[in-house]
Amino acid sequence: MIKAVRGTRDLLPPETGLWNFVEAKVREVMRAYNFQEIRTPIFESTELFARSVGEETDIVSKEMYTWEDRGRAESDKGQSLTLRPENTAGVVRAYIEHKLWDRGLNKLYYIGPQFRRERPQKGRYRQFYQIGAEVIGPSTAGSESPARDAEILEMLATLLDCLGIKGWTLQLNSVGCPADRARFNAALKEALAPVAAQMCEDCQRRAVTNPLRVFDCKVPEDQSIIEKLPRISQFLDEACRKHFEEVQAILKGVGVPFTLNDRLVRGLDYYTRTAFEFTTEGTLGAQNAILGGGRYDGLSEALGGPAAPGIGFAIGEDRLVMSLAESAPVVAQKPDVYIAPLGAGMNVEAAKLARQLRSEDLIVELGDETFRLKKSFDAAAKLGARFVLIVGENEVKAGTFALKNQETGEQVSLTREELIAYLKKILKKADNH
Ligand code: HAM
Repeated sequence: MIKAVRGTRDLLPPETGLWNFVEAKVREVMRAYNFQEIRTPIFESTELFARSVGEETDIVSKEMYTWEDRGRAESDKGQSLTLRPENTAGVVRAYIEHKLWDRGLNKLYYIGPQFRRERPQKGRYRQFYQIGAEVIGPSTAGSESPARDAEILEMLATLLDCLGIKGWTLQLNSVGCPADRARFNAALKEALAPVAAQMCEDCQRRAVTNPLRVFDCKVPEDQSIIEKLPRISQFLDEACRKHFEEVQAILKGVGVPFTLNDRLVRGLDYYTRTAFEFTTEGTLGAQNAILGGGRYDGLSEALGGPAAPGIGFAIGEDRLVMSLAESAPVVAQKPDVYIAPLGAGMNVEAAKLARQLRSEDLIVELGDETFRLKKSFDAAAKLGARFVLIVGENEVKAGTFALKNQETGEQVSLTREELIAYLKKILKKADNH
């Protein structure tokens, strides 16, 4: 048997209903904050991720699905391509490519699959879905303002609350500007030099190449060493400190609770200043970061574009849906009406009625004229249909149809017109219960 590839999975109904619910809510909230959707390709040049996410990150150094795409003709140059491990790089690439600075401040969101070759476990997949947003534009359009950071964070708090995610914590830090980080890196290197030899192989390498990445280390034995390292908070310059204070002041003003966490450096190199994660308790086990994000003021320039400060986030949709499913069981979709055509020629009549009922927003399932009545009733019961409508030759001739309420067993005979009015009335009443 051919199975889904390790780390990938099928999303099946009724759970897909929960995914649709989440995405519909997201679109509603994004609209209220004036975000608009962007869709970028799921594969990009490998160079894009190397230059944005960073060569030394776990993502780029170990987790990307990369292949050499040969040209189709002799004259075509081959190039290295990669399935996107995240979507910020693609959005900034598109910002530069399409000169989106002409539009001032861009508020963009996306929903789609990302790919990382991680060790699969609960809440961690090799194909997973992100719901993300990016605010990016010229500084003059206000893209650098702490008001943008606070707006994004307040939007996330609102979204999680209205989705019914309970017990989330906003972990907040500032990772400063490149100059702050250069001083921090120097201090880290110095602090790591005498202890690096006792750390894992990855950390020994990071201690030399990109010491900040030591904070990504998950090896338990290394944690006591990491605990004692200097923190970025001690190295912020005046402007970064002020920016961070203003973000916090607005969050306090609008009543969004947060926890300062100066160990939070995030696993991607492009971050500057505000960095954050939202975590949830319990349900997700080790994978408790439901979303992460931050500012990336130098990213556009690193990719050859103009200065374009930005801030964004990405929610792990798989994790979000998982924590929702644990608090509220998913409800399967059930037809309002099962139409049972009875005898030769009745498929046409049933199809006509189905078309009419569906145009009235009812969920309709159709049987087949070869089914005996018992078979149709069994099928309707299996689907959980609320009504069965019988369409036989006699009914069509008389212009009245037998409608059976599956819950009460009550059966009524109705004309086409009465049928619609009756169903709408009853189903609407039931919805209100
Ligand atoms: P990230 O922290 O790498 O950030 O990923 C964001 C979220 O994606 C994580 O918090 C997690 O919920 C989810 N996630 C990551 N890897 C997996 C996986 N293997 N399986 C399931 N879920 C996963 C970014 O990707 C940045 N682009 C976010 C951002 C946008 N920063 C600024 N703008």
